[in-house]
Amino acid sequence: MPRQPITQQKIAEHVQRLGELYPPIALDSVDRSIKNPSAVADKYGHVIDYLARVELEVDRNVLELLCLLLDVDDTNKTFYADVWQPQEIQHGLILDRLQQDLGRTAAEPHLEVSFKIKILGALANLSPIQDVARLLYFLTGASTERQAVLAYNQINAGMQELGEVAISETIITPIKQQEPGHFAFYQMSATAMIQDGELKPWQLYLARVLREKSYNLVGTNAMDRYKADMGGLISALGLDADLEGYAREVGRLEARLLWANQNGMEFPPYILKALRESVDLYEERLTREAV
Ligand SMILES: [Fe+2]
Ligand SMILES: [Fe+2]
Repeated sequence: MPRQPITQQKIAEHVQRLGELYPPIALDSVDRSIKNPSAVADKYGHVIDYLARVELEVDRNVLELLCLLLDVDDTNKTFYADVWQPQEIQHGLILDRLQQDLGRTAAEPHLEVSFKIKILGALANLSPIQDVARLLYFLTGASTERQAVLAYNQINAGMQELGEVAISETIITPIKQQEPGHFAFYQMSATAMIQDGELKPWQLYLARVLREKSYNLVGTNAMDRYKADMGGLISALGLDADLEGYAREVGRLEARLLWANQNGMEFPPYILKALRESVDLYEERLTREAV
């Protein structure tokens, strides 16, 4: 069945609805009671550290998008300025306080825009490259938000298993309710670009090459230490039992939009490669620490 076309009007309505449905979560709405802090810290301490840092890096993500997108239209501006950034920063602050309640050190977000983004931003002054940058920005957003949804689902199940009702009900559940709407925004935006044929074949080719060369899992910032941390998160959440399944969940959208020329591709291979690399780096770190 053909998919309904996605209009700019639909995207604008989605953004407006998100703003109305999900005000940023207030810090004082959180019940800070923890039944067994050391059990939570042992099992999920480093996962919460990771997520807190990544959520707090939203401010760098805003700088990156301003660097990449030259003329941000009203819908995009409303999304990042009024909906997304205010929601994500609260996720970060709440998780950062949780990690400190668990006796761990405060997050140190990496807030510097990378050289690669600056270069792409400079090239994006050329309008054909601007369209490529915009598509990559939406695909990156969709991929990272999808990973957030999956991580929060797993961590919520884990907290419930530990009987940590307050963490589950007043931290993870409200956060995880806000992530799918972010994913949907990026998904709709990327889909609209492809469906409207905004990119010529050479631009799509360039988008594929750049994506293949620069794909990063959420929060890894192309750095080995964060990649190893991400491997730790994957393993703590049990996602390493089926990395291909996880790659499929994360990569389905861009397989469809970017790699439609490769019949039957379920997910782009670079996603599974990035997952394996993270798990390997984490295991290497464990081995090093054990010596
Ligand atoms: Fe978030
Ligand atoms: Fe999000």
